[in-house]
Amino acid sequence: MSILKIAKLGHPVLLRKGTKIDNFATDSLKRTIYDMSETMIDYNGIGLAAPQVHLSKRIIIFRNPDIEEKEKIQITPLVNPVFKPLGDETEDDWEGCLSIPGMQGLVRRYKKISYYGFDIDGNKIENIAEGLHARVIQHEIDHLDGILYTSRLSDDKAFGFEKEIVEFWKNEQQRK
Ligand code: NI
Repeated sequence: MSILKIAKLGHPVLLRKGTKIDNFATDSLKRTIYDMSETMIDYNGIGLAAPQVHLSKRIIIFRNPDIEEKEKIQITPLVNPVFKPLGDETEDDWEGCLSIPGMQGLVRRYKKISYYGFDIDGNKIENIAEGLHARVIQHEIDHLDGILYTSRLSDDKAFGFEKEIVEFWKNEQQRK
């Protein structure tokens, strides 16, 4: 396994649409998912999409902090993933991205979604997600379409370096 190099904002691979995976259970697909997992853990992320490691393929991996047991990381890979909003309700929350290190933005996402995709062997996985979990999946699937969270800001001023966001936005909101 290896830790892969992460593409940063400005790299054209992040703006490209990923292609679908047609062949499952292959060594290259397994290796890609293992390497992506190792990379995400090394960078301490909760989600990662293949274009972020310079691969224009429709593969994402994510963690679900809501169901993860303490100190036990559980990673779900999802190939050719698709999501659909359940209802119109949206919520705004702060997001970061390993391709835009050190920065955060306030992003509007659907609160509840259903999603499906395939595991390494091509078995269909279907689920419902809410809150942060739903947010991560929407963020990662966006990467497969070349969309970064910076183009989904709920307020175009609500974007900046982590330290400043904490100081001037998050603390400000708490004081209200
Ligand atoms: Ni991202």
